[in-house]
Amino acid sequence: MSNLETTAILGGTGDLGEGLARRMLKAGYPIILGSRKLAKAEKEAAKLTKATGLKVEAMVNADAAAAADMAILTVPFAHQLSTLEGLEDCLKGKILVDTTVPLRPPRVGRVALPSEGCAAVRAQQCLGSKVRLVSAFQNIAAHLLRSDDPIQGDVLVCSDDKAAGKQVCGLVERIGLIGWYVGPLANSAAAEALTSILIQLNRQGFSNAGIKMISQQV
Ligand SMILES: NC(=O)c1ccc[n+]([C@@H]2O[C@H](COP(=O)([O-])OP(=O)(O)OC[C@H]3O[C@@H](n4cnc5c(N)ncnc54)[C@H](OP(=O)(O)O)[C@@H]3O)[C@@H](O)[C@H]2O)c1
Repeated sequence: MSNLETTAILGGTGDLGEGLARRMLKAGYPIILGSRKLAKAEKEAAKLTKATGLKVEAMVNADAAAAADMAILTVPFAHQLSTLEGLEDCLKGKILVDTTVPLRPPRVGRVALPSEGCAAVRAQQCLGSKVRLVSAFQNIAAHLLRSDDPIQGDVLVCSDDKAAGKQVCGLVERIGLIGWYVGPLANSAAAEALTSILIQLNRQGFSNAGIKMISQQV
């Protein structure tokens, strides 16, 4: 039995959800894949189990959020609020990691933060203060997480609940990355905006542009 948090990945049938699920399964986290449709969650969970040899549970999003100790939201910005609405009771007292980048296709290379300041603050306002909202993973490409290769980019972690933010930094480190707690949820605006900058660099020939924090003695 793992002593790590059973984690529900809401909208976990998509690209980022699969990548996080793979890395977290390998790190020992029990995973519940969430979806709007049980059959889709079961199909993707079976694929993951086959690929990793590890058991993956499948549930609709609300049941997954209720059954888990912690949840991660991995749906497009346009569906962030509709996915979270009604989940406040299931998530009460739990950490919810929001990965949402407020991209507005097709202009994904242009920063377009919402009127609330950023997607993570919008999620906190939707769920209320009883949910321990943490923002992370906006600057890591899903296909890198889905591969078995080492990943060089760092992860910025923001939360108004510092202990929750530090706990998510621990998760980030267990899956082979470096996580930096960088202050309140409002600071997620910087991480979310950086994604469009990384997209611009990839268009100019970078290969999987990412961010790396440096500390320099002078
Ligand atoms: N992809 C990346 O490289 C990457 C990197 C960093 C951050 N992110 C962020 O992570 C989030 C997920 O990205 P992704 O690329 O994984 O997205 P995605 O594959 O396009 O979609 C993820 C899941 O969202 C759910 N979904 C789709 N349409 C929906 C709708 N109308 N209503 C409710 N749920 C819907 C689907 O789950 P069900 O059909 O099973 O319900 C889908 O599998 C985004 O906010 C993105 O900005 C992505």
